[in-house]
Amino acid sequence: MTRPLLIAPSILAADFARLGEEVRAIDEAGADWIHIDVMDGHFVPNISFGTPVMEGIRGVTKKPFDVHLMIAPVDRYLEAFAKAGADIITVHAEAGPHLDRSLQAIRALGKRAGVSLNPATPVSVLKHVLDRLDLILVMSVNPGFGGQSFIPAMLGKISEVREMVRGRNIDIEVDGGITRANAGDAVRAGANVLVAGSAIFKAKDYAAEIRAIRTAAVSVDV
Ligand code: DX5
Ligand code: ZN
Repeated sequence: MTRPLLIAPSILAADFARLGEEVRAIDEAGADWIHIDVMDGHFVPNISFGTPVMEGIRGVTKKPFDVHLMIAPVDRYLEAFAKAGADIITVHAEAGPHLDRSLQAIRALGKRAGVSLNPATPVSVLKHVLDRLDLILVMSVNPGFGGQSFIPAMLGKISEVREMVRGRNIDIEVDGGITRANAGDAVRAGANVLVAGSAIFKAKDYAAEIRAIRTAAVSVDV
């Protein structure tokens, strides 16, 4: 099953003093999803923002909010993120004692459910929850910060995920250190959703950068 290629700029790299304008700019520049990185200073060694910020930008764009929760324990916050305008809610495999329960809760809120795998987390954690999944997010850096380098060993992991979900209606997203130089490798390995923070927001022309990443990715023969 060939899935559409989607580009999801991470607003973690945006200018927070002008966040509304930044979100509008990436929407107009051709972003497919808006990737929203929520960090709690506990599950990851950094704090970003929470539901009030999401609510503040929800009115700026109609694009889906792809919410990446790097928080633990996560279950008690799922409803708040659903109400704040999330379309996809992704939790880390280690973010609660009961991954299956977290995924059921996300779908019960009417949202698409994702699981994120840290670089050292094995693909096998997904095996028994595949029926509850809409998205798998393969971290290609250790979560917590933007601007890190892509870990090449994650390409093999993306391929493993692709084999595991073959024939299912599940997106494979890659997050961390994505640039026009490695977007093709990620798609060749099996990803169809590319998150990019620094690469897009550090560029002068967001539309040109999104186009360059998309072109690098679609020129791949999969
Ligand atoms: C890292 C976040 C990523 C990150 C991507 O914890 O999940 O979404 O912000 O940023 P870049 O593209 O700069 O690696
Ligand atoms: Zn992310």
